[in-house]
Amino acid sequence: KALLEEIRQINERATDVRARMSEAEQQGFVHLLGRYLETRSSASAALDWDQIQPPSAELLRPYAELPEPNETEARALLSRVAVLKLNGGLGTSMGCSGPKSVIEIRSGQTFLDIIVKQIESINKRYQIKVPLLLMNSFNTDADTLKVIRKYEDLIPIRTFQQSRYPRLVRDTLRPLCLDSEVYDKEDWYPPGHGDMYDALLQSGMLDRLLAEGKEWIFVSNSDNLGASLDTRILKAIADHQVEFTIEMATRTRSDRKGGTLITYQGKPRLLEVAQVDKEHLGDFQNISKFRVFNTNSLWIQLKALKRIMDRGPGSMELDIIPNTKTVKGETVLQLETAMGAAITHFQRVMGINVPRSRFLPVKTTSDLLLIQSNLYNIVSGYVSMNPERPAELGTPVIRLGPEFKKVSDFSSRFESMPDILELESLTVSGSVRFGKRCKLSGTVIIVAQPGASIDIPAGSRLENCVVTGNLHV
Ligand code: UTP
Repeated sequence: KALLEEIRQINERATDVRARMSEAEQQGFVHLLGRYLETRSSASAALDWDQIQPPSAELLRPYAELPEPNETEARALLSRVAVLKLNGGLGTSMGCSGPKSVIEIRSGQTFLDIIVKQIESINKRYQIKVPLLLMNSFNTDADTLKVIRKYEDLIPIRTFQQSRYPRLVRDTLRPLCLDSEVYDKEDWYPPGHGDMYDALLQSGMLDRLLAEGKEWIFVSNSDNLGASLDTRILKAIADHQVEFTIEMATRTRSDRKGGTLITYQGKPRLLEVAQVDKEHLGDFQNISKFRVFNTNSLWIQLKALKRIMDRGPGSMELDIIPNTKTVKGETVLQLETAMGAAITHFQRVMGINVPRSRFLPVKTTSDLLLIQSNLYNIVSGYVSMNPERPAELGTPVIRLGPEFKKVSDFSSRFESMPDILELESLTVSGSVRFGKRCKLSGTVIIVAQPGASIDIPAGSRLENCVVTGNLHV
């Protein structure tokens, strides 16, 4: 109650309209915090390990076994789907300001350019109008609206905004914004992509899609270049009337993030590392037992979503992820949710074990190196591995030091992208620059000591070698 009162105060005191919360945001936030306070006092978030089972063969299907629809079927399926990209995040982790989706990632093209090209090519090929929806946050909305004008003649494109909740001082749970004289973006946060369900409903987008005869929505991270429309997945969903489909990729030892698909007390759900107690962490990391991880690409039947949301406010309760940060010198708490957790609310659910090519996230400049190199081809917005890459090599492991962290620094250190078709791993540390047309093969390690720098001359061929010292040519 006290909190509700404080939330009301936020609105009353706000002289700047941007600081006001909508009725739905107030309700959503108070409900989320209420649930958090309730569960915080109960013992532990950990699940009972003995009740956890790896997914059955029926629950997790291999992508390779899904049948391909014929051209007419494919067209009918695609005309009933809408694509939604999560666009609430900023590019700060790669040293960029503004929405992450407008970072240039290859040949001057941004994530959004590539996404639009892909949908445009599908629409042309099948003579249909698959719409692209972008879920923006208050952090990304204005900038996104500016850049999407250029796509309006190419594909139907729509945006809606997710909620904006107040950050709380962790120890007092008092909203940070109550101490700000003027509106300050830093006092607020977008509450994770689990908010997508409320945002779809509250924006009217869910009803609009249903009214247009759409049956499914395909939702994915805008920074996952592998998350493309796929007619085999659509056919499987339609054939089996699946309400909720989640794409899972096969885990390798380096995949530490993302929940795994399990059956818990007989029901499908995602198991996150935070839900595993210490004594079972080793078991959880066992990649032959828990073989797959969540790629955050979902296919949702709109009718089923509507049925759940119609149960009223708070009907889509999702596990809460408490996130603490330091903001303006204070330790703040922000409560978030993730959209995959919704799996427990749907009736017929399916996991698909997709090939790695459907999970190509660009989180760091190391990922950017891969995407910009000759390892991948991008045709009509579809990214695929260069067939000249020996299949047994998989994806090279790239480790770049802090000198490469920002996109601008990364770009200035490569005159052109090296040929990495035969590369297995690259480690670069210190001030290193690459000239044009270098080729890297096998395992390459380049270390410039502090204060020194290394220039790799244009046209160099480096194979299974270590380069150290101070080298200028
Ligand atoms: P995340 O931030 O959850 O990505 O965003 P991640 O892979 O778990 O972790 P990072 O990138 O290493 O931090 C996944 C997608 O969800 C969107 C982001 O824009 C991104 O496309 N997102 C995230 C939202 O749209 N809203 C949110 O509140 C959070």
